[in-house]
Amino acid sequence: MCGITAFLAVGQPPQTRSREQIEQEIHNSLDIVKHRGPDASGKWINSGNRVGLGHVRLSIVDLSPEGNQPFEDTENEVYAVVNGELYDHERYREELAAEYNFRGHSDCEIVLALYKHYGLDFLSHLRGEFALVLWDAKREVFVATRDRYGIKSLYYTVVGDRLLVATEMKQFLAYGWEPEWDVRSVYESGWVFDERTIFRDVKKIQPGHYLISRNYGEFRTDKYWDMHYPDKFTKEVRTEEEMIEGVRQRLLDAVRVRLRADVPVGIYLSGGIDSSAIAGMVVHLVKEGAKLGDSSSKDLSRIQCFTVQFDKGSGFDESDVAERTAEFLGVKFNPVHVPEGKLAERFENAVWYSEAFMADINGAGKLAMAEVAHNAGFKVVITGEGSDEHFAGYSYFQNESLLEDDLTWTPPDYDPTKREEAIRNAGTNHIQGVKWVVPQTLPSTMRTLNNTRVAGLLTRAVPLYYAPWLQDEFGASDGQTVLTESFDGEVRHAMAQSWHPLHTAEYLWTKTAFPNSLLRYLGDNIDMAYQVESRPAFLDHNLTEFANSLPPSLKMKYNYGSGTFTEKYILREAVRPFVTEEIYKRKKQPYMAPMRYAVDGPVHRKLKELITKENIEALGFVDWERTEPLVEKGIVGGDPLAFRAAIAAAQCVVVSQRFGVKKATQNDCK
Ligand SMILES: *[C@@H]1O[C@H](CO)[C@@H](O)[C@H](O)[C@H]1NC(C)=O
Ligand SMILES: *[C@@H]1O[C@H](CO)[C@@H](O)[C@H](O)[C@H]1NC(C)=O
Ligand SMILES: *[C@@H]1O[C@H](CO)[C@@H](O)[C@H](O)[C@H]1NC(C)=O
Repeated sequence: MCGITAFLAVGQPPQTRSREQIEQEIHNSLDIVKHRGPDASGKWINSGNRVGLGHVRLSIVDLSPEGNQPFEDTENEVYAVVNGELYDHERYREELAAEYNFRGHSDCEIVLALYKHYGLDFLSHLRGEFALVLWDAKREVFVATRDRYGIKSLYYTVVGDRLLVATEMKQFLAYGWEPEWDVRSVYESGWVFDERTIFRDVKKIQPGHYLISRNYGEFRTDKYWDMHYPDKFTKEVRTEEEMIEGVRQRLLDAVRVRLRADVPVGIYLSGGIDSSAIAGMVVHLVKEGAKLGDSSSKDLSRIQCFTVQFDKGSGFDESDVAERTAEFLGVKFNPVHVPEGKLAERFENAVWYSEAFMADINGAGKLAMAEVAHNAGFKVVITGEGSDEHFAGYSYFQNESLLEDDLTWTPPDYDPTKREEAIRNAGTNHIQGVKWVVPQTLPSTMRTLNNTRVAGLLTRAVPLYYAPWLQDEFGASDGQTVLTESFDGEVRHAMAQSWHPLHTAEYLWTKTAFPNSLLRYLGDNIDMAYQVESRPAFLDHNLTEFANSLPPSLKMKYNYGSGTFTEKYILREAVRPFVTEEIYKRKKQPYMAPMRYAVDGPVHRKLKELITKENIEALGFVDWERTEPLVEKGIVGGDPLAFRAAIAAAQCVVVSQRFGVKKATQNDCK
């Protein structure tokens, strides 16, 4: 769990920089994310000054200096910097001990051993969350890659003659990067949909992808892993019981490997079934004798859960439910009260650390929680993200699940005469009272997406009011088409021909808003601001591959008798032995910060301070006339759409100020 930085001088440029200069750049780039790695720092530059690697370390597994990075093998052939956590490393270490000379016991050191053993296919042996850069000096191969779901961030850009790679975009500032808005990307949600970011010429390595360059030549990116779903016409042969048991075993296994660390491990607990199931499984495993982090105590009251507690009466506080779960399990409940003032104070930092927008201020709540976990001595927490994506937890998946009959699995109470009624009962496509006006989309795109609708929702993720010139420049673009064209042909073919629409919808969500917005604004980059490594146990590929193989109607189940939906049905059954009856039955609540704030209260004042004529006009692409009234309409008038739009505009202002982004003009976009 760390921060990395790397460069590769592409081509045969004259080397004008001195070694001292380069060392200083790497140092500065690491310094920008020193919060991610307070325990050690290291760098390596090759003799021609053409490759550099830097690393700051948060020690979690193997606290000795042997775990410090960059790693190199004893033959001085391969070098690597790794951020993240690789599970199951003990097994590989044993298997490869005869042929690889391990220096220490760090989980990350297996990267070199696996690369030397398997070549580029080392990627398929990495289990966990990671971002890494590897340099094969002998063959002159540069590889940068990222985990399957995008839990860890990894960005790249080219400045002058060098390809730069880093954990956070702000690190590029150390190499002379001058940030400019990628206005088209913001306008068409390209930063949510494809390899683009909000900054011009800065890209992300997509989840499940790697970047490769040979002999200092041009680089390309390619996919090493993807999600697949079964053919929607082929009957399921497993029994429901077998499938439930399959989920249970894989989730238990995913939790088990995530207990291992040489430091204390805690749990983020909410009122939902996902984190409750994880807490229940941790308790089960500890009772069986498993070690939790550095503790082998069987005293359950020493297991610590952390829960965000919003103001009571806001309608968004779930901490009472979490408290009852903690009581039932016998673990320690630590509510983290986040009143409005704390949210407002952390608003800007949440944007700075996450480098992402989300029309909600929950990022500030997560930041407050990480701070409390850190102060309580925790370096690792296990969390519940990724379950809604893989088991159909979102209400807008209800409609998608009914677009076509599930021919793979016929529910015992299936009644074709009740189809129309079922569709009427399906959740409306809105979030907390905000009904998006979904922009026009090409009919060919709707056909490609097999008429699923989630992509339409995604295009309105950041509700900004744009300056009029954007319409002239980019008016012909529609987000859903941009999204559809970002996938490879095989995926589009599967969507149109063989995946059930619910699976298509899950794919769309899991590849876009999830890694680029949710996992950023509420994930690693926020937790690491306070040196907390979060381990999302549901994002284990043995588990998700199994979940993806299940019939859609066992994930989002429609009960024909009662006319109701049970989201994450199969997961509920799988984890029932580990949770309270209340949790087992509870409907999913969106995990969001409150939407209403006091007039003249801290959030109102923060928004007014950020949304000024001067600040908005300095962006260059947001319309002041239509942005000005949003704060009053959102806070005083209580209009949720205006409130979300105000949040989005304020987040742009924070980015523009903290990164020093140049004002966008129509001319720059030509
Ligand atoms: C996946 O999980 C199942 C059930 O726990 C287990 O039998 C199997 O070995 C796992 N596969 C891998 C590759 O870990
Ligand atoms: C649900 O799907 C039906 C088509 O099956 C569509 O007519 C309806 O508008 C959808 N509802 C929502 C809320 O998207
Ligand atoms: C999805 O595509 C298939 C094949 O083109 C078609 O038969 C089916 O009706 C489509 N489903 C929807 C919901 O449009």
